[in-house]
Amino acid sequence: MSNSIESVLVETRVFPPPASAVQGATISGMDAYRALVAQAERDPNAFWARLAREHLQWTKPFTQVLDESKAPFYRWFGDGELNVSANCLEAQIAQGKGDKVAIIFEADDGKVDKITYSQLLVRVSRFANGLKSLGYKLGDRAIIYMPMSIEAVVAMQACARLGVIHSVVFGGFSAKSLQERIVDVGASLVITADEQMRGGKAIALKPAVEEALAMGGCEAVRRVVVYKRTGAKVDWTEGRDLWMHDVEAGQPDVCTPTPVNAEHPLFILYTSGSTGKPKGVQHSSAGYLLWSALTVKWTFDSRDSDVFWCTADVGWVTGHTYITYGPLACGLTQVMFEGVPTYPDSGRFWDMIARHKVSVFYTAPTAIRSLIKACEGNPKTHPRNYALDCLRIIGSVGEPINPEAWMWYYKNVGRERCPIVDTWWQTETGGHMITPLPGATPLKPGSCTLPLPGISAAIVDETGEDVPSGSGGFLVMKRPWPAMIRTIWGDPDRFIKSYFPPELKGYYLAGDGAQRDADGYFWIMGRIDDVLNVSGHRLGTMEVESALVAHEMVAEAAVVGRPDDTTGEAVVAFVVLKRSRPEGDEAKAIAQQLRDWVAKEIGPIAKPRDIRFGDNLPKTRSGKIMRRLLRVVAKGETITQDVSTLENPAILEQLSKSL
Ligand code: WT7
Repeated sequence: MSNSIESVLVETRVFPPPASAVQGATISGMDAYRALVAQAERDPNAFWARLAREHLQWTKPFTQVLDESKAPFYRWFGDGELNVSANCLEAQIAQGKGDKVAIIFEADDGKVDKITYSQLLVRVSRFANGLKSLGYKLGDRAIIYMPMSIEAVVAMQACARLGVIHSVVFGGFSAKSLQERIVDVGASLVITADEQMRGGKAIALKPAVEEALAMGGCEAVRRVVVYKRTGAKVDWTEGRDLWMHDVEAGQPDVCTPTPVNAEHPLFILYTSGSTGKPKGVQHSSAGYLLWSALTVKWTFDSRDSDVFWCTADVGWVTGHTYITYGPLACGLTQVMFEGVPTYPDSGRFWDMIARHKVSVFYTAPTAIRSLIKACEGNPKTHPRNYALDCLRIIGSVGEPINPEAWMWYYKNVGRERCPIVDTWWQTETGGHMITPLPGATPLKPGSCTLPLPGISAAIVDETGEDVPSGSGGFLVMKRPWPAMIRTIWGDPDRFIKSYFPPELKGYYLAGDGAQRDADGYFWIMGRIDDVLNVSGHRLGTMEVESALVAHEMVAEAAVVGRPDDTTGEAVVAFVVLKRSRPEGDEAKAIAQQLRDWVAKEIGPIAKPRDIRFGDNLPKTRSGKIMRRLLRVVAKGETITQDVSTLENPAILEQLSKSL
């Protein structure tokens, strides 16, 4: 938080929205934005109630808007009932969108499949009926461990239809991570696939499920439903395992959606925090769905004619809100992609945008940065060679976008006519919180600009007082909003501790440091806790440390982040072995073993980029590891700080050498 705005802001130009983006926009011009903000401030309950009535279809209308009696366990629209899947499917079909394409799915190998809203409703209904016939019902928990596929959306929507709470586990997580989530959530159902395809390679999924279940603690799992993606041979347990197509076969096309209370958990999604154990972020049905739909309308100024494409995986919150729920709740046509941006070459995204006539494109800075390198290095795949005039709005999510990457994206992909929406939000917020509006907000490269109407974002000091503009502080939300996290599954105390510390006056603490400039624009400075952001994926340093010390050779480990040009941050691990400190080739071999071990414990995304072995770690006399110093060492910089409080200052020299 010590960085000044100037050090972040290299590009000082301001980019007003082009007239074409302002005209006809849902929120057109700054006056319209300010009017909505004022409306929300004047009477928040009336504001949210109006939106919830306009944008959702209720089977039982709500009479209460916000119940604060058990704050911070807020309840929204608490006596209303609806069904999320019916809002995404029947509600669209009722508006005449039955034959509209809901999903254009493109497989890793380029094969394209399309499904209309009516066809999607039939698939979801059959699968839901199948699950119902297996005894699954309201409140049960299902783990979904699937590749990007229409089937993953069918699985999530079918759960929502029955009130079964889903918890999607990203296909890149290991068997161990999967097992921990199955146990924590108490799943009785696992939905998976035989394999997934990424960049021409098959990656096994069902075998990881087998491995997870064999680790124990998963006895509640009665059924494993398997989507046949590649047809690879898989182990099979009769009586437990079923093919997804067999579950759907012979089921009626109609499945009456189960009305659920507005507060019924729609899903639980695990994310990293500052301790070793990931948190099960619990989201509601109505408040979450409202914000999914509204933010698609506002942030992406969505129109019926749009072709929307969010490149995230459904294993992350971005894929929940901006693939499975938001675009469908708005009746949009969207592209869904199984593969990776660099296969068969780094022109894949641009080629897909041109072929599918994508009008709204939403991706992550880490993808943009890696494509800058790849496309500048291979001019054949440069965006300039593709017909991208179909694009209207382009977006960014997951981490700060550096001004250089912003400018490249703006010029080469948006052709200086598409506003970039740099959306700040989190797993916990359910949807966008601070973001430009394409038809209103003047853009500053590197800033996520201004809060959406109804969102009371602020920057405060450690006593909860507002800081003056230009000074750093904690990013908070002063008032609750409908899509906010409801609790941490099974751990309400941790929910309060993590997000509502007593000294912050009941404000929601986001965990990011930020500052505002003279125009009130927000500049995110990064996490204030021990959470790293590697390629837009959240990773707890303690999580990686726990994985490392679980290895039989490791006595102690400390993990820090190092800024990285492509991935944003990279994991650097300082390790003390139980045996003597290794050197040379032996050190390299052990480091490789530990890297593979972390991949097995958590997933390949958590693999340390750099491992340094020491006889010890830098500690204070009271035994506290000085991570602050390790961060400096990891960057390869010389230590200028005072090290006199260190028990063993000489150790820093040893740790400064990479293998
Ligand atoms: C953390 C949340 C947002 C959904 C995907 C990631 C960082 C996210 C931005 C942005 C700067 C950003 C924050 C936040 N972050 N978007 N536009 N500018 N930082 O969700 O895994 O829950 O991570 O990602 O540090 O706290 P997540």
